[in-house]
Amino acid sequence: MPASIAPAAEIPTTKPHRVATSDTPIALSVTQLTRRHGETKAVDGLTFEIHEGEVFGLLGPNGAGKTTTISVLSTLLKPHGGEARIFGASIREDVAGVRAKIGLVPQNISLYPSLTAAENIRFFGRMYGVKPPLLDQRVDELLELVGLDKRRDDRVGVYSGGMKRRLNLAVSLVHQPRLLLLDEPTVGVDPHSREHIFDIIRNLKRGGTAILYTTHYMEEAENLCDRLAIMDEGQIAATGTLNELLATRGCAETILLRGAHPSQVKSRFATHPDVREIDSEGDTCRLLVSRASGLLGPLQDLTKNNPNVSIQITPMSLGDLFLHLTGKELRD
Ligand SMILES: Nc1ncnc2c1ncn2[C@@H]1O[C@H](COP(=O)(O)OP(=O)(O)OP(=O)(O)O)[C@@H](O)[C@H]1O
Ligand SMILES: [Mg+2]
Repeated sequence: MPASIAPAAEIPTTKPHRVATSDTPIALSVTQLTRRHGETKAVDGLTFEIHEGEVFGLLGPNGAGKTTTISVLSTLLKPHGGEARIFGASIREDVAGVRAKIGLVPQNISLYPSLTAAENIRFFGRMYGVKPPLLDQRVDELLELVGLDKRRDDRVGVYSGGMKRRLNLAVSLVHQPRLLLLDEPTVGVDPHSREHIFDIIRNLKRGGTAILYTTHYMEEAENLCDRLAIMDEGQIAATGTLNELLATRGCAETILLRGAHPSQVKSRFATHPDVREIDSEGDTCRLLVSRASGLLGPLQDLTKNNPNVSIQITPMSLGDLFLHLTGKELRD
């Protein structure tokens, strides 16, 4: 556990409190973006947009293409097709303009271990053209924001993983970017540091910053993101708020049947009007349904003949939806 974690301070900003709606200005627009690695289509025709004051989540498993997307948007990699604009600046034509507007928190920690926390922020601040006395002010503000003010003069090499992650975030904010790109920023951090990072993100959002947040944690996507894109094999399978995503598939609940023969379950339920999908693994069947109450009769019949069958009915989760859309489990 890191030595000192102060509560997240408010980001000093003159911007008003705002809630993202489709009426707020577009921070990032991505159109048919493509990037290959050799034969692999790592990013395969992505289209989405993010508004000011919005946290947009890219949720996908290992290899989905999240980091490649972030690398192309931050101009570290060139796109092979399509376009993205950050507050109007094209990633193809205006690399300097894009870089001035974005903050990047890379998946792999990118800090100088032999420098102190304050020196790291100062170094990156100078790279972004932030000059004293504003630079001194930003160093102090950011160290307080991420709860590292008491450790400001310690070399980063001796920091814990969570402390490094928080400093990585501080560094990305030194030039007050209007769009923040966060690539799995909580991997390997303790729950306390994770909550601290979430608080900072929520405060940034309230100040109007647009945030692209990649993760493979469903819980983070559910709790933090205003809208989500479900990503797999370089493509977006669905986009929307959590409620929109769950509702548009017509699936409201999941019924888990343990101990029943899958072929028997399929023959009984596959044609039922409330059943959207059935899949099975071993002797466990999962039914995605629009209304579990519509199946109570047939379920009762099933258990009457098979007393060992157990039934569990739960509201549809993001994990169920992910499986439904991609055929894959997304494990936390
Ligand atoms: N430098 C590279 N050279 C070759 N292939 C690559 C390279 N970087 C990524 N890939 C491939 O591109 C695809 C997308 O990778 P990417 O790192 O963008 O996924 P990701 O969603 O960030 O995964 P993770 O959750 O593991 O970070 C994968 O198939 C990966 O193997
Ligand atoms: Mg990645």
